[in-house]
Amino acid sequence: MTEEIQNNKLKILGKLAASLTHEIRNPLSALKLNLEYLNMSIDKFSEEDAECIRASLDAVERIQILIDNTLTFSRNKNERYSYHSINYIAKQAIEMIQNTAAGKSIDITTNFEPNIPKLKFNKDKMLQVALNLITNAIEASGKNSEILISTYLTPDNSVVFEVKDQGIGISENDKNKIFTDFYTNKQNGTGLGLSVCKMLLDEIGASIDFSSELNVGTKFFVTFPKSLIEEEYETKNSNS
Ligand SMILES: Nc1ncnc2c1ncn2[C@@H]1O[C@H](COP(=O)(O)OP(=O)(O)O)[C@@H](O)[C@H]1O
Ligand SMILES: [Mg+2]
Repeated sequence: MTEEIQNNKLKILGKLAASLTHEIRNPLSALKLNLEYLNMSIDKFSEEDAECIRASLDAVERIQILIDNTLTFSRNKNERYSYHSINYIAKQAIEMIQNTAAGKSIDITTNFEPNIPKLKFNKDKMLQVALNLITNAIEASGKNSEILISTYLTPDNSVVFEVKDQGIGISENDKNKIFTDFYTNKQNGTGLGLSVCKMLLDEIGASIDFSSELNVGTKFFVTFPKSLIEEEYETKNSNS
């Protein structure tokens, strides 16, 4: 349980590391090019200056290797996708976050479609998405409020996972900012929760959207297209 929360933090740090390393790459290349330029005519320099240039070039190359390693690490290759129940993932997330909610006397209620088809996704990543959305809902909510977590099928057979709170809501001005990396209006926020969610859902072709009213509440919903639904379910339901 704490391991999963730790894992969540690591994913966010991974994203932070990925964007940082990405940003560092270009100025670092410029630095390296300039040093290489000086290195081409190294015999024009005094022995002392030449040593400075060589040492700097060495250091730049070490940073470049470090950055390449960080980027591969956060890219997370060779991952496995299989079919899972979104109800099960939602239950897991709620269990993990129950104590935090209880601490604010927030009641988490659920309304799960029992006959929900299994969906193709990576279990850990989807748990991460659910945790991020529920954490945001808790953080936006006042004491003694309610968070409703539901799953359902739409008329065109997409699957929806929804987190609805009675919290502070999102102002019109903030609505187009919240998915931006590092955008936060919290004192200790990272501003990466929603952008990580969006990134993880983009990877599999699912989408995330929200509706919100200031001082009334916010509803985030993740839509999984029909193409992610396990084939067996369609056969089962068209036969019956
Ligand atoms: N359920 C919600 N209710 C109100 N505002 C929200 C909600 N979820 C997200 N937000 C807004 O979106 C911003 C970005 O969220 P997020 O990316 O998770 O970063 P963080 O939680 O670290 O601030 C939050 O700071 C908040 O302003
Ligand atoms: Mg957040």
